[in-house]
Amino acid sequence: MSVSTRQEWKTVRFEVLEKTESLPSLSAVVSEFLALARRDFFTAKDFEVVISKDQALVARLLKVANSGMYGRSRSINSIPEAVVMIGVDNLKKIVYAVSGEGLTRQCLTNYDFHPAQGFWLHSLGIANATKVIVEALPKCDIHGEEGFVAGLLHDVGKLVIDEFLPRGTSRRVTRQEEIDAVGLDHSELAEYILKLWNLPESTARAVCHHHDYELCDGDVSGSIALALAQSVCETWGLGRTETLDLSAEVPVENFQDLITSLGLDPKKWDQVIWDIRQSLVGLDDLFIKEN
Ligand SMILES: [Fe+2]
Ligand SMILES: [Fe+2]
Repeated sequence: MSVSTRQEWKTVRFEVLEKTESLPSLSAVVSEFLALARRDFFTAKDFEVVISKDQALVARLLKVANSGMYGRSRSINSIPEAVVMIGVDNLKKIVYAVSGEGLTRQCLTNYDFHPAQGFWLHSLGIANATKVIVEALPKCDIHGEEGFVAGLLHDVGKLVIDEFLPRGTSRRVTRQEEIDAVGLDHSELAEYILKLWNLPESTARAVCHHHDYELCDGDVSGSIALALAQSVCETWGLGRTETLDLSAEVPVENFQDLITSLGLDPKKWDQVIWDIRQSLVGLDDLFIKEN
């Protein structure tokens, strides 16, 4: 059996496609959210209508909203209350994080993420950073919300490939090792998965080229934004270590090529880094242990 990626057809093992199709899927509300966010006008009521279609998501969302991350004097019991008390922007962030939990909570045995919540922190961290970066750009082929979802799912292919790699200690896995194991690298497989879930073409494309944008024609600004987000988050070792430490400096000179390719004004760099740090503070508190 084969799947179409980029221009060529590649042979992929049947078990790989089977595993891909059995991944816990994103809540359907995510694509509805992306469609909503594309509209000029987005109210708290619209938010509530979409969310209430997934009661499991509502329950989880309220649990996170009550987790102590947001200072409040009493508990939040409904979505309208949550909207008022923690704001639509924070709630949207939680919706995406919670929607992707089935995927990002999983442990990868062959990749070099921290075993406890490394893959989760890496995915959520890059989601937040990509959103901040695309919002700071004069022009990008993915908008803010899409940037978040692209970041959240950019490495989802690793979840499938992990099971087909020869067992070994956690380390950097090369693209060639991934191709040898399943016939595709993790970015190509992620594109396939995002298309399977009907996420926008632009999001799937950004994810597909997050490691090889230099080899692609056309607008790959979404992929470059993802690469920049990844590079910034690596400075802090996000997902590689147990605790979240954002104290390392992030000097503009280290990212010059990516900043220039994106057309980002270097004078805005300090603000972008400030906004990324703000979006990541307390991120580890969102990871609620099941009980
Ligand atoms: Fe990554
Ligand atoms: Fe990656």
